Amino acid sequence: MIHVTLVGGQDRQIEDALRIGGIDAVRATADGAVSKPADVVVFDVRGQDGLPSVVSALKRQHSDVPVVILASKLEPALLLDAMRAGVNEVVAEPIDHEELARVITRVAGSRLHAEPGRLYGFIGAKGGVGTTTIAVNVATSLGSVIKPERALMIELQNAAGDAPLFTGAEPRFSIVDAVDNTHRLDQVFFRNLVTQIAPATDLLASPERPPASGLDVQRIKQVIAFASTVYKHTVVDVARSDRSILESLDQLSTIYVVVNQELATVKSASRMTAMLRDRYGREKVALVLSRSDRNADISQSDVEKAVGCSVTHTFPSNYRVALQALNKGRPVALDNHNDLSASFRRFAQQLAGVRPPREGGKSPGLFGRLTHSRS
Ligand SMILES: Nc1ncnc2c1ncn2[C@@H]1O[C@H](COP(=O)(O)OP(=O)(O)O)[C@@H](O)[C@H]1O
Ligand SMILES: [Mg+2]
Repeated sequence: MIHVTLVGGQDRQIEDALRIGGIDAVRATADGAVSKPADVVVFDVRGQDGLPSVVSALKRQHSDVPVVILASKLEPALLLDAMRAGVNEVVAEPIDHEELARVITRVAGSRLHAEPGRLYGFIGAKGGVGTTTIAVNVATSLGSVIKPERALMIELQNAAGDAPLFTGAEPRFSIVDAVDNTHRLDQVFFRNLVTQIAPATDLLASPERPPASGLDVQRIKQVIAFASTVYKHTVVDVARSDRSILESLDQLSTIYVVVNQELATVKSASRMTAMLRDRYGREKVALVLSRSDRNADISQSDVEKAVGCSVTHTFPSNYRVALQALNKGRPVALDNHNDLSASFRRFAQQLAGVRPPREGGKSPGLFGRLTHSRS
């Protein structure tokens, strides 16, 4: 997410228009912009005479912060002043909001996170184990953990994923639109393909019907790689039985096989884990336990022995909460105070490398402070 400081002007539509392009614009006074500029500063000087002196003041203090000017007209005198002040771009009326978003994205360029984001795949050992439930809720929790950044969920299936059902979302576009347009993938285009499913989480949905020609492995990889340049954290709900999809997981940071404590699922998890480890390397594949049940005949350690892989995280069984969330089309993770949403949150915190807040919010005390390492 690109953060913009917006100074001057009366145009209240700009913030909304930029937000659609995935840009967070916050208004500030000229002094505020100079003392604490965001990734990019936009000065709206329409209707003013010449360039305000604060622009060069900002550039003197923060030479690396890109500056964009919104002007009534591209007048030579203004352009010259802008050039002297070190302004990066001047956009004149009529202001095309989509174009403005592109300009901001471009000038923000090098200041964006250079490292690609992390991608977490979830793949069910069998249908119905709770993979989509986990993907939707981990993505939702990740969003709230990393705010003001946003998290992404990708439904990597060739048709009819369940995420809209779990979230009440009505996606207009799908991963097929991304795959068909890999030649024109940019931030603005990509942001238009996703649908918001939680306050800080977006979804790149599967299509309603399978594409006639199937999904191309190289192009899926390109889309996944591109997503990781836009979002720092992406959760991927991976279809179990589509060959091209199973061959396009190279970029995923970790692939979590979702298992439960049923015999047939455990057998299938064992095959799937072995296959994925063979293809992508041992360290990339991990196991999570869905609907965990202490009283089940097959214990967690039985599962681990049978699959030959330790369980990274367990999600408790909570039939009532899961059903209620599905009926409401609202992710469990958005409501606190139940064991299931707490476990999604803990997992998301782990993935994002965020320490959970201390129980009860108490300060650690002298001994805690003496022994606690600073990081
Ligand atoms: N932790 C859980 N506790 C209780 N029920 C769950 C849990 N996780 C999922 N379910 C239920 O199991 C069913 C299948 O879940 P889903 O996520 O669609 O599985 P999958 O994607 O693996 O097919 C849904 O009805 C869902 O509400
Ligand atoms: Mg599913």
